[in-house]
Amino acid sequence: MSQPSPSSPRILVIHGPNLNLLGRREPEIYGRTTLDEINGQLSELSAQLGLALDTFQSNHEGAIVDRIQQAAGVYDGLIINAAAFTHTSIAIRDALAMLKAPIIEVHLSNIHRREPFRHTSLTAGVVTGQILGLGACGYALALRGLSELVRPAVTMV
Ligand code: DQA
Repeated sequence: MSQPSPSSPRILVIHGPNLNLLGRREPEIYGRTTLDEINGQLSELSAQLGLALDTFQSNHEGAIVDRIQQAAGVYDGLIINAAAFTHTSIAIRDALAMLKAPIIEVHLSNIHRREPFRHTSLTAGVVTGQILGLGACGYALALRGLSELVRPAVTMV
């Protein structure tokens, strides 16, 4: 286990609108794990992987755009579940497109098995990869993936 140090790769996780209500919100779709529990699991895993983690949640599109802009040159990787903004926000897509760091888009549910308006992700074309439909464990998989992408020489065999 490698603890994060000042030189550890920095990862930012952005949670979009209504994800603050995870655990209570349509649990048959999104599961019973709360956002605090997800962030706690990610924080533990980051410590194991030697990554420095920050998390951010907002229900406001402009606040998410601001946070993405501030991430440029600061973070080595980004995980984002833009929630409903995934399907509507050109502004979030444009902000993500400016980042050089790898980005993983996560959705708890498989958006392609749901209503047609959820089938389009405006952010899909500017992210490195997507993880869909695996519930809360999708975030941990995204973090493991980013860990490989940000330090290929160290972690890959
Ligand atoms: C979601 C899927 C979106 O369509 C929805 O608006 C969400 C959550 C997911 O994680 O499955 O809020 O991004």
